[in-house]
Amino acid sequence: MRHHLLLTLFAAVSLIQCSSRQEEKKADTSPMTITKEAFGATGAGESVDLYTLSNTKGMQVKISTYGGIVVSMMTPDKAGKTSDVVLGFDSLAGYLKEHPYFGAIIGRYGNRIGKGQFTLDGTVYKLAVNNGPNALHGGLKGFDKVVWRAKEMSTSDGVRLDLVYTSKDGEEGYPGTLTTTVSYTLLNERNELKIDYEAVTDKPTVVNLTNHSYFNLAGQGEGNILNHSVTIFGSRFTPVDAGLIPTGELKQVEGTPFDFRTAHVIGERIEAKDGQIAAGKGYDHNWVLDKPVGDMGLAARVTEPTSGRVMEVYTTEPGLQFYTGNFLDGTLTGKGGKVYGHRAAFCMETQHYPDSPNQPSFPSTRLGPAERYRSTTSYRFLTAQ
Ligand code: GLA
Repeated sequence: MRHHLLLTLFAAVSLIQCSSRQEEKKADTSPMTITKEAFGATGAGESVDLYTLSNTKGMQVKISTYGGIVVSMMTPDKAGKTSDVVLGFDSLAGYLKEHPYFGAIIGRYGNRIGKGQFTLDGTVYKLAVNNGPNALHGGLKGFDKVVWRAKEMSTSDGVRLDLVYTSKDGEEGYPGTLTTTVSYTLLNERNELKIDYEAVTDKPTVVNLTNHSYFNLAGQGEGNILNHSVTIFGSRFTPVDAGLIPTGELKQVEGTPFDFRTAHVIGERIEAKDGQIAAGKGYDHNWVLDKPVGDMGLAARVTEPTSGRVMEVYTTEPGLQFYTGNFLDGTLTGKGGKVYGHRAAFCMETQHYPDSPNQPSFPSTRLGPAERYRSTTSYRFLTAQ
């Protein structure tokens, strides 16, 4: 009897100890958070906010309601020291001036549309031509230059920022009223920024959304990215003409400087005597990903040797534009006074192929009124010794 009482007492004490240990454990861990601060106002007087998303694994992301721009992305290196791995500006003023889409949401159509026009159901739609003879990244005032409506929340996965923008019928020449929601989720269990894109239209239209973050895994402004090692899980790419419009061919990467099926350092073949490298002034091409279209799968992995940072890109999209900052030339000064020189960053823009509205053999970018556009991309950060 006495023995039984002792056992019960022992069990009760260990239960108390156990629950206080759990409480201690909880108290040790800083919670994931999402906070908001004013970031300024546009020239038209619209106020802009800056959201800060933090997880418990050392990653922190700042996102502006202007352009849905990822303003900073702090991730740990192999020693646990965090640095900002994306290019950008310290204040809204920098983003309001001309810049090459740093961190922005791109829409309605990421990448180029040849001659700035396409035909849909027999009607010719004319877009603003803003890149030589072609249309690039949604037009003169694309989704990178509008103020998005924001709503923050905590989910079981992490902290999430939903951004919503309604583009009017005919805006930048595109048909249909298009309502787009871009959800940025910073996962809590691992250092991953997940981007979910959704859109609905009231008329048939074309949509191709992406994010244009410029990465340097050694830290933003820390030299060029030529020492980064890249793997792209795509056996073909879409060769382009001099204006970077696809010829329509899906060319095997085998035997070309575009073969990243095994890891290669970016600088190894970037100056190769190759017509496609010449057209892009380096890498500025769309890879055809090997994974099944629509399935979330690994598109690319990038490793930076000094910091040990590794970034993996997962997407449901069929293509990946790998751009090596060939147009950066030292004329832009960014965060912390860093000057962004030639190839100071690389972009991995998940997407449907460029000029799809004019290429019937490419996966379609058409969206009808009864459909819902859905696309997901994740940037996941790890470290290696
Ligand atoms: C994309 C294009 C590049 C360039 C940049 C922005 O990645 O493919 O050619 O226009 O955007 O400078």
